[in-house]
Amino acid sequence: MATLQKRAETSAPIHDVISQRWSPRAFDPRPVEPDKLHSLFEAARWAASSYNAQPWFFIVATKDQPENFKKILDCFVEFNQSWAKNAPVLALSVARLKFEHNGDPNRHAFHDVGQAAANLALQATHLDLQVHQMAGILPDKARQIFGIPDGYEAVAGLAIGYPGDHNALPDQLRQREIEPRSRKPLASFVFTGKWGETSPIVKP
Ligand SMILES: Cc1cc2nc3c(=O)[nH]c(=O)nc-3n(C[C@H](O)[C@H](O)[C@H](O)COP(=O)(O)O)c2cc1C
Repeated sequence: MATLQKRAETSAPIHDVISQRWSPRAFDPRPVEPDKLHSLFEAARWAASSYNAQPWFFIVATKDQPENFKKILDCFVEFNQSWAKNAPVLALSVARLKFEHNGDPNRHAFHDVGQAAANLALQATHLDLQVHQMAGILPDKARQIFGIPDGYEAVAGLAIGYPGDHNALPDQLRQREIEPRSRKPLASFVFTGKWGETSPIVKP
């Protein structure tokens, strides 16, 4: 089976798990070992967060929980459903929008859920898995299907598994799958002095 690596081309050395993480749409149907899944959420747990509020929650299901798996899949937009249905594990991340300690709005709730998701994704890469995160979800449907209470909001979908054979994807998705990964140059977003002035740290 042909699986892609898609290692990042970097302008400076970075850790292997960062350069090797990528977002596949082709997943191998083989299940993910439960201890590996456990590690992914443990990695998420140890993310930093504003006031250590840990405003992240995850709803997760494996293919061998078909009812729960379908409930998560139903919360994805149609395009994401088309490929994510083949992943062996699906999840939704959910943010708690107010601080537990004083009830004030937590301006960094989504930021911190994102940090937990990043930890989870990097741990996955370390375990030869990959994670594909999705903004294309239906938060209101997720609220209804899973009974997500007021004050909490579904943030993103996650498809988790071993990367699969990109040749099995429909034409258009296969094309996107084999495209090289790309990023904006460092100089376009690392500034000093004033907005738009590139920091000498990242000048080539
Ligand atoms: C928060 C977030 C939302 C995303 N939403 C979607 C999505 O709805 N559908 C999709 O196919 N990919 C989605 N992606 C994947 C991005 O397109 C992908 O991360 C980006 O192109 C960079 O590719 P890489 O992750 O392989 O480096 C999302 C990624 C993130 C982090």
